[in-house]
Parts: sequence; C-alpha cells; structure tokens
Amino acid sequence: MSASEPLVLGIETSCDETGVGIVRGTDLLANEIASSVAEHARFGGVVPEVASRAHLEAIGPALQRACVTAGITLTDVDAVAVTAGPGLVGALIVGVATAKALAVGLGVPVYGVNHLASHVVVDELQHGPLPDPTIGLLVSGGHSSLLLVSDDAQVIQPLGQTLDDAAGEAFDKVARLLDLPFPGGPWIDRTAVDGDPQAIAFPRGLMNPGDRDRHPYDFSFSGLKTAVSRWLAARAAAGEDIPIADVAASFQEAVVDVLTAKAVGAARDLGVGHIVLGGGVAANSRLRALAQSRCEAAGITLRVPRPALCTDNGVMVAALGSRLARAGVASSPLEFPTTSSMAVTQRVW
Ligand SMILES: Nc1ncnc2c1ncn2[C@@H]1O[C@H](COP(=O)(O)OP(=O)(O)OP(=O)(O)O)[C@@H](O)[C@H]1O
Ligand SMILES: [Mg+2]
Repeated sequence: MSASEPLVLGIETSCDETGVGIVRGTDLLANEIASSVAEHARFGGVVPEVASRAHLEAIGPALQRACVTAGITLTDVDAVAVTAGPGLVGALIVGVATAKALAVGLGVPVYGVNHLASHVVVDELQHGPLPDPTIGLLVSGGHSSLLLVSDDAQVIQPLGQTLDDAAGEAFDKVARLLDLPFPGGPWIDRTAVDGDPQAIAFPRGLMNPGDRDRHPYDFSFSGLKTAVSRWLAARAAAGEDIPIADVAASFQEAVVDVLTAKAVGAARDLGVGHIVLGGGVAANSRLRALAQSRCEAAGITLRVPRPALCTDNGVMVAALGSRLARAGVASSPLEFPTTSSMAVTQRVW
C-alpha cells in the first residue's frame, strides 16, 4: 500500500444493509455492516420505511467502528463515495446526506456512485485491477445482467439482462414456496447441499435454440419459479411429501446452469478471457463451483470475490470511489440526486 494513494470512505444504504468501508488504493482497511434484515423477515421482504429508520440509527456507529478498524480518524479521509442509486429512495437519502455532510465538513470531494457498478468493481480489492475487457455477471436481489466491462472498469456495456425476475428474487420467491426464511438465497444454498440437483428437471429459461438466438445473453426466471410452484402443488395435491432438499438443489441447478452457460457463451463469442461475478447471488456455492469448472473447461479466468464482498457492503462503494479518484475522474457536484432506478451504465454526475 502506498500512502500516496487516496484514502476513500464508502457508504452504502441502498437497501437493508448499512455499510461503511474504507480503502486505500485497492487495499481494504475496514468493512463495517449493520443489517436490518431481521426486522424485515416477518414481512417476507424489505419494508422501505423500516429500512430507512434502521439506516439512520446505524450509520453513525458504523462510521465510528470503520474508523477504529482502519486505524484512522475522519480527518485522514481524502474522498467520500456513496451509493446514489439504484435502491430505495428513503434509504439512499440517509447515505447520500451523510456522505455530503462529511464531504463538506472535511473539505473533500464526494463521488455519487452506481451500486451495480460497485458490485462488479469490488473484486479489485481481492484480486487486483480488472483485466480490460472483462465479462461481468451481475446477479443480485434486484438485477441480473451480463456486462462488458472495459476502459479500467469505467465503461460498462450491458450485453443482456433478465426479462422478468432477478436471480436473487427467484431464489427468495422459491424459498418462500418451500417455507424457508427470508432472505431465501442463502437458505436454498444450504438446503441444496443435501439434495440431488438432477432429481427434478426444471426448465432452463431462454435456453432452447429459438429463444437463444433472439436472447443470447438475456435471462428469464419467472417460468422456472412457476414450474417449481406447480410441481409443489401437484405433489401436495397427491398427498406426497415434499423433498425440500431435492427441490432446492434442482431449482438452484436450473438457475446456475443458465447463468454460467450464458456468461461463458458471451466470453467465447466476444473473445474475452476473463469473467467476474458480482452481487449477492455470486455468494452461492453452486454458482461459484459451476462457474469455476465451466470457465476452466473453456480456458477462461474466473474472478469471484469472497462471499462477504458479494452481498451489499460499504467497501464496494469505497472501491469504486477509489478507482474514480485514482483515475482523476471529476467528483460529483454537491447537489447530485439520489436515483432510485438507475441503469447500470449510469455512474457519476
Ligand atoms: N448463497 C446465496 N445463494 C443464492 N442467493 C443468495 C445467496 N446469498 C445471498 N443471496 C441473494 O442475494 C440477494 C441479495 O443480494 P444483494 O445484496 O446484492 O441485492 P440487493 O442489493 O438487494 O439488490 P441490487 O444489488 O440488485 O440492488 C438476495 O436475493 C439473496 O437471497
Ligand atoms: Mg446489491
């Protein structure tokens, strides 16, 4: 680590995680997270107003803990980065207002950054600068996209995306069908360990030849969710037990089969030698394993951040802010807005 690299503090409050991260260059110094997920669990989904209030309570202590962990004081900070979108507007406002107040108080620049781009760039903290170009597979609670990431991760070009549910949303909905707790993705992952992924042949969205020609890099998961629901209903109607582990494993296999086939297909078609995974679903153990074996077979290098960097956190925001600061990109004007629905291509103002 070079002391000449900027010390960047990142703030993430787009959904239910209050994250504060600190980096110098690409070195991770602190990654503090306070989650309000337990407060949402009984509603089966994130309640925006509950999330906003929880951010207000958590942001101050998280900032203090991050400074202690990193061994710095706020006056050492050279730049602040914050998620400006996409996300829940009330939740975003807490982070953005905090970041602007810090920037003004400390007399440092502020970068309003795109949460989706930071899910992709966070891998730099673990594996160094992203090769140019890299295929990004962004799979999270609200998004599922294949991306072409180039120009030092500053240009992100969408190749394809989900036409309906996001991968994480499909995990959460199917988990609910199986009476597993919210958020369901990690529960399906754990439950599937004891199941047979070949037990039930669930459909692979947009993988048959006609669909594949029209949507080579797009995804669709709502048909899969319906197929699981119908399969469970038929089983219940017949008075038979539900083999939860087999359903979880077979559903999970259908999702990760499509994700990895399309990511590797895009890399092959475009002649790109690297794939990076990002977003909460990238924490999935089967996705990581299948992506690894398919990339190896295709001679592609796979980069996957450790699970704690895949789900929402503040250090991914700091990582993107650090990249922008090091590249000499102009910081955001102080009046930059929160943008609850922000395309992956939109990054600073
Ligand atoms: N091990 C896992 N297996 C499958 N899904 C997982 C796993 N861990 C987390 N997820 C899923 O990841 C999603 C949360 O990811 P993330 O925090 O990136 O989403 P988000 O921030 O809510 O959405 P977005 O980034 O699109 O705004 C949830 O749907 C959750 O179920
Ligand atoms: Mg996210």
